[in-house]
Amino acid sequence: MEVVRSRQALTQAIRALRVLGKTIGLVPTMGALHNGHVSLVGLGLRHAQAVVASIFVNPAQFGPNEDFSRYPRTEQEDLEKLKAAGVSIAYLPAVDEMYPQGFATYISAGKIANELCGVFRPGHFDGVATVVTKLLMQASPDSAIFGEKDYQQLHVIRQVVRDLDIAVRIVGAPIMREKEGLAMSSRNRYLSESERVTAAVLYRTLQQAASKLREGRRAESVIKDAKNALQKAGFTKIDYIELRNAQTLLPTYSAPGRLLAAAWLGNTRLIDNVEV
Ligand code: PAF
Repeated sequence: MEVVRSRQALTQAIRALRVLGKTIGLVPTMGALHNGHVSLVGLGLRHAQAVVASIFVNPAQFGPNEDFSRYPRTEQEDLEKLKAAGVSIAYLPAVDEMYPQGFATYISAGKIANELCGVFRPGHFDGVATVVTKLLMQASPDSAIFGEKDYQQLHVIRQVVRDLDIAVRIVGAPIMREKEGLAMSSRNRYLSESERVTAAVLYRTLQQAASKLREGRRAESVIKDAKNALQKAGFTKIDYIELRNAQTLLPTYSAPGRLLAAAWLGNTRLIDNVEV
């Protein structure tokens, strides 16, 4: 595995793969890698002959009071995991490589970027859209893989790629979960032992709500019960639980649905979603 830190070195390393006739899959990450990320690489290798993985904690997608400075940075372990997973190129740009002095152009990800998580994290999806667009331009992959845990993010990225005519296939990867059901996330390392036990209630509650919705129960009352269940379990704040259309992310009461949620345990914000 080649480790590169500049755009120029990335271009050269990718050119060497292209000369060998290889198709390329991109797996963008912010590091602090877990088995969910490893599964993205595995899926990348099913869609392309070589995988480029990026590790970049993107300041543009963090709000002023968010966890940018304390976001876990575990470069050596991450590189070992990427190598073992079969990555060809690991791209680790510094902040001024991605946002050099004078950088001024940001992508505005549209209406959906201001809904769901966007209500609570203003500007977040514009930051994601900007960095992902840059990574796609820099690596010119044939496909790029994103986890469905960040379901709204995946939707925003598909929209940006469609709107800006970026020639890449966006592939969504199923959510990887811990044994008790908690969706894998780099931020899970913020959780204490007891918070971890409570965190698993989020998935169980969403699953129960989804099955009630499938039985035809009214969304409003199902969601109210789900919020009560989370509060009772010890969640300190619920940003939202919403039923949306799985494809358009518009508010929906009809199939195919996706039930999405964001809730806090102490200082940790968890997101999850299930198919309905
Ligand atoms: O999902 C993430 O880890 C990040 O939002 C991404 C897609 C790597 C962009 O910084």
